[in-house]
Amino acid sequence: MHISISTGKKIGGGLALAAALAFAGCNKSSNEPPAASLHERLGGTAAIASVVDTFLVEVLADTVINRRFNTLPPARVAALRLNLINQICAGTGGPCTYTGRSMMDAHAGMNIPQAEFDALVGDLVTSLDKHNVPEAEKTELLNVLGPMQTDIVNK
Ligand code: HEM
Repeated sequence: MHISISTGKKIGGGLALAAALAFAGCNKSSNEPPAASLHERLGGTAAIASVVDTFLVEVLADTVINRRFNTLPPARVAALRLNLINQICAGTGGPCTYTGRSMMDAHAGMNIPQAEFDALVGDLVTSLDKHNVPEAEKTELLNVLGPMQTDIVNK
């Protein structure tokens, strides 16, 4: 009994020392590890590109909105893909620059109803789920894109 208690204390002390050493080199001003950006937590730009590829497949199969996209020439779909990757990469703190049009300009004159916006968000959620993106990161990404709704719906 006595021996097992003293062994337990040694193990605990060892873990605390290991944790202190692990954080010491990363952040000298506190014991907290540096916060990872959403871009990092999503798995970086390549992982974001994979989600966007799934998303485009979902959108093109979604009968609520696919008429908006399946008439676009392939070069326009390719440009849309790159714009979406850069937009999400930049918007989540990644090292990309979005060079596309403003959301207001890109969707002007399309008269997109709320139901179509919701359908597209649903396709994004399906895509994030297919890539096993955890709930917290999914919510954070939706919170980055959600405010764009006012520049997209009924314009
Ligand atoms: C948060 C939601 C949305 C985001 C972040 C988003 C983002 C974008 C981006 C980055 C572009 C490319 C801009 C450019 O060409 O310079 C674009 C274009 C486009 N978006 Fe959206 N969009 C959203 C919602 C929607 C919805 C709901 C629809 C229709 C149902 C839609 C239809 C289109 C179409 C058809 C284009 C292609 C325009 C073209 O190439 O002429 N978007 N969107």
